[in-house]
Amino acid sequence: MPDWPKLAGQGSNYIAHQLKAFKSGERKDPVMTAQAAPLSDADIADISAYFSQQKSTPAAGSKDAVAVAEPLFRAGDAARGIPACASCHGPKGAGNPAAGYPRIGSQHAKYTAKQLTAYRAGERKVGPTGQMMAAVASKLTDDEIQALASYITGVQ
Ligand code: HEC
Repeated sequence: MPDWPKLAGQGSNYIAHQLKAFKSGERKDPVMTAQAAPLSDADIADISAYFSQQKSTPAAGSKDAVAVAEPLFRAGDAARGIPACASCHGPKGAGNPAAGYPRIGSQHAKYTAKQLTAYRAGERKVGPTGQMMAAVASKLTDDEIQALASYITGVQ
């Protein structure tokens, strides 16, 4: 469902980290806070392992988004201090589980745009990794966020 993220193929450490952040209240979401509250550490480990083994499938993004999004994704914009998304999330958006960088490729565009907007507003800023992403998002315009979200849904 476009409102909720695809979890298939997400790094298990990342899923567990986010579930714990919802449970502790560090990451706020009216739906997920309630879902995470009753989960034990063992439940979180099991759920995270389960979803990390599923395979995610890309969707078709808007062709108009490519011209804006692809250069940012692949190369960033040095003049504005924006690093390439691919430098952390990988050339196919698969992430780097060991470093705590999540998979973003093939994610629903609506969810990606919502997260980039939340990082930019400082509303999603859990720990050092959240601050890393908030710094990146702080430089993006609304149009760039929409274009990146649309582009990323087709990346895999
Ligand atoms: C310096 C490394 C780095 C760069 C560059 C980077 N990211 Fe991230 N990104 C992260 C980390 C780390 C997280 C996890 C943050 C957290 O814990 O909330 C993240 C999280 C995200 C998320 C949330 C994923 C989810 O399912 O919760 C999205 C979307 C995202 N990044 C998109 C981008 C885009 C688009 C770009 C390029 C404009 C980008 N990132 C550049 C490191 C990076």
